[in-house]
Amino acid sequence: MNLNVTLTLLCLILVGTAIEGVHCKVVQFIFGDSLSDVGNNKYLSKSLATANLPFYGIDFGNGLPNGRFTNGRTVADIIGDNTGLPRPPAFLDPSLTEDVILDNGVNYASGGGGILNETGGYFIQRLSLWKQIELFQGTKELITSKLGKQSADKFINDANFVVALGSNDFINNYLMPVYSDSWKYNDQTFVQYLMETLQKQLLMLHNLGARKLMVFGLGPMGCIPLQRVLSTSGQCQERTNKLALSFNKAASQLLSNMQSRLPNANFKFGDAYDVVDDVIQNPDKYGFSNADSPCCSLGRIRPALTCLPASTLCSDRSKYVFWDEYHPSDSANQLIANELIKKFGFLGGSSNAPAPAPESAIAPSPDEE
Ligand SMILES: *[C@@H]1O[C@H](CO)[C@@H](O)[C@H](O)[C@H]1NC(C)=O
Repeated sequence: MNLNVTLTLLCLILVGTAIEGVHCKVVQFIFGDSLSDVGNNKYLSKSLATANLPFYGIDFGNGLPNGRFTNGRTVADIIGDNTGLPRPPAFLDPSLTEDVILDNGVNYASGGGGILNETGGYFIQRLSLWKQIELFQGTKELITSKLGKQSADKFINDANFVVALGSNDFINNYLMPVYSDSWKYNDQTFVQYLMETLQKQLLMLHNLGARKLMVFGLGPMGCIPLQRVLSTSGQCQERTNKLALSFNKAASQLLSNMQSRLPNANFKFGDAYDVVDDVIQNPDKYGFSNADSPCCSLGRIRPALTCLPASTLCSDRSKYVFWDEYHPSDSANQLIANELIKKFGFLGGSSNAPAPAPESAIAPSPDEE
C-alpha cells in the first residue's frame, strides 16, 4: 500500500497527537518583507530596517516591540489566524528548534528584502527572497534528518506557503536613482525581470516540495505617506501605482500559468489593491479618519522614515490607514486580510479557490508595502 495513503490514514486517526516519525500538522512557511517580518531583522545587527523601538508592537501582546513593522498584526498573521494555522516564529529566533518548526512552521520574512538580491542594498542587511529560499532548503534538510524523507516530504507538501514581496523592488530599488536597476530597465522590462526571477524562485520552491502556495500582490504603493511627500500637493504617485498594477497583472498571469503546468500545484495569486485604493479615496466608508499620513510621526518632520520613541501617536490608531511612512496599521491589515481571504477562497473551506484574482488590478489603486 502506498505510504502516503498510510500516512494520511494515520494522520486522520492521530490528529493532534505526535508519534515518532509521523507529523500531520499543517504549518506555514512565510517568505516576505517588512509587511510580514515577525522579528528576523531584530537579529540582523547591522540592518538599518528594524522595528525594535517603541512604538512598534504597541497593540500586540504586551505592547513591546516584537519585530513587526506595525502597531499590531501583519496581514499574514490575520490570514493564518483565520485559517486556523499557528503563527510561525522568525527563522532567526534563537529558540527555533526542529520541534518548534514541526508545530509552527517558519517565517523567513525580512524588512527591506525583495525578489531581487540587489533590492534594499542601503539597509545593509536584509534577507532577499533567494536567501530566504536557501534558508528554507536548510530547514528542509533539518526536518528530513529528523523525520526521514517520506514524512518530511509529506510535511512539506501539506504545508501552506506564503510569498509576499515586491514593493521594495520598486520603492527601495527601481524608483531610486542610486540603484543601477533604475537606469538599466524601463517600467515594462523591470516588471518582466521581476517576473522571470519570481518564476525561478517559485519553481525552486515547487522542487523543494511546496504544493500549496499563495502569492500576495501589491497595494497602491504610490499612496504610502513616504511617496506622497514626494510631491508638494501630497498626492499619490501615479507612476508608482501603475507599476504596482502592472506587477499584479503580470504576477496573476504567472501564477495561473504555473498552477496549470506544475504537477499537483495549488499556486494562487491575490491582491487587495482595489479595496485599499477605495479606502484611501473614501476612508469614512470604512471607518477610517485618516488615509494619507502616518499615525506615528515626528510632528512636522516628514518623512520621519521610522517610528521613534520621540514620535507622537495619533489619538485613535484604529482610524489611521497607515502606521508609519511605509506600513499599514493593524486595522488596515485587517481589511487587506479580509479581502485576500475572499480572493483566495478560504471561506467555505474549498481548496479549489477561484484561482488568480480576476483582473483586480484594472483600476489604479495604491500599494501598501
Ligand atoms: C542571489 O543570492 C543568492 C544567495 O543568497 C545566490 O545564490 C544567487 O546566485 C544570487 N542570484 C543572483 C541572480 O545574483
